[in-house]
Amino acid sequence: MHDAKVFRSMHKERFGAEPAIFVGPGRVNLIGEHTDYAEGFVMPAAINFSTLAGISPRTDGKIAIYSENQGEERVFDDGVQVKRIQHWTDYPMGVTAILAGEGHKIPGFSLSIWSDVPLSSGLSSSAALEVATALAVLSLVGAGYPGPKLARLCQRAENEFVGSNCGIMDQFISLNAQKDHALLLDCRDLSFKLAPIPDHVALVIANTMVKHSVAGGDYPTRRRESEAACAVIASHRAGVPFLRDATLEDLEKWGSEMEPKSYLRAKHVISEDLRTVAACEALLKGNMKELGRLMAEAHRSYSQDFEGSCVEADAMVALAQDLPGLIGARLTGGGFGGCTINLVEQTEATGFAKALGARYAEKTGIAPQIHVCHASGGAHRLE
Ligand code: GLA
Repeated sequence: MHDAKVFRSMHKERFGAEPAIFVGPGRVNLIGEHTDYAEGFVMPAAINFSTLAGISPRTDGKIAIYSENQGEERVFDDGVQVKRIQHWTDYPMGVTAILAGEGHKIPGFSLSIWSDVPLSSGLSSSAALEVATALAVLSLVGAGYPGPKLARLCQRAENEFVGSNCGIMDQFISLNAQKDHALLLDCRDLSFKLAPIPDHVALVIANTMVKHSVAGGDYPTRRRESEAACAVIASHRAGVPFLRDATLEDLEKWGSEMEPKSYLRAKHVISEDLRTVAACEALLKGNMKELGRLMAEAHRSYSQDFEGSCVEADAMVALAQDLPGLIGARLTGGGFGGCTINLVEQTEATGFAKALGARYAEKTGIAPQIHVCHASGGAHRLE
């Protein structure tokens, strides 16, 4: 964790003013992958890796954005921009532009950013940045939104400004998470249920070090393939605008009219919704065995039917299977690399992390990063 005092004085030194500081956490998804944009279910938790955004007003109308991670500062002389420039500043500027579009009069400001959320690892570094920026800019104009509404605005920044067609999960959990809880989110109406993560369970996040990117080609391709399957079902049965509304029976009935790949993508999405709701039930009942079984089936489905995994992530999941303390393991996030989530008995967590790291390094020749995490609270101002 970054020392907030150091961050504060860094901002003060660079921009000559005391900043207000906001925190946006990254997240790990326990189950429910590629279901959010099909208006289905996801069950993420926020984690103790986060982005800090420090903001102070300026009188010259300019917007200056500095990232300590990038070691770079950009100054926008004419304030809020309307178009992306294919640069990391697109995320904070996108959020600012969306808020301006909502009618907020945005003055000039200086923004400093620092993050320990690993980039392109499926832990939502983008959402953490968007959410921390949104709270920072809103504090400047003296406005606020309920969490679900602000999550939608941050998602729009990513969809419309950055140009990546992600769903609502990441922004929602970063804003609305509760410490020591996972959150079952209905991505249709944004209603949610909190499920406590028992004290004896640790979240062990294992980074394959294979970079993943939502903006890259595979994510939108999978999205298109699953939506094509939905269109086939909708052509036969009214009331199926999203795969959320389809059943496995629909799929069997009309699957022969789909491209084979589309059929498989839809099979994953439809069954994943069922698994996600069941996983929340299992967690609420303390049935860890059932939760682990559902996570294993979810990984199989994500890897084989959705083809959203990669050799390294499959290896990380396989290598975890017979380690002491494992409850369940699967690839988390947008796919094609990134991290696996391992639910592990707390007493075994340290040994598990060490053994998994050693096994993975030996198998793949890649040194992974393994973190024993806990479920954190949502975005907030740092006092
Ligand atoms: C990324 C996107 C989310 C979601 C996941 C896959 O994290 O940002 O909206 O679609 O991938 O579950």
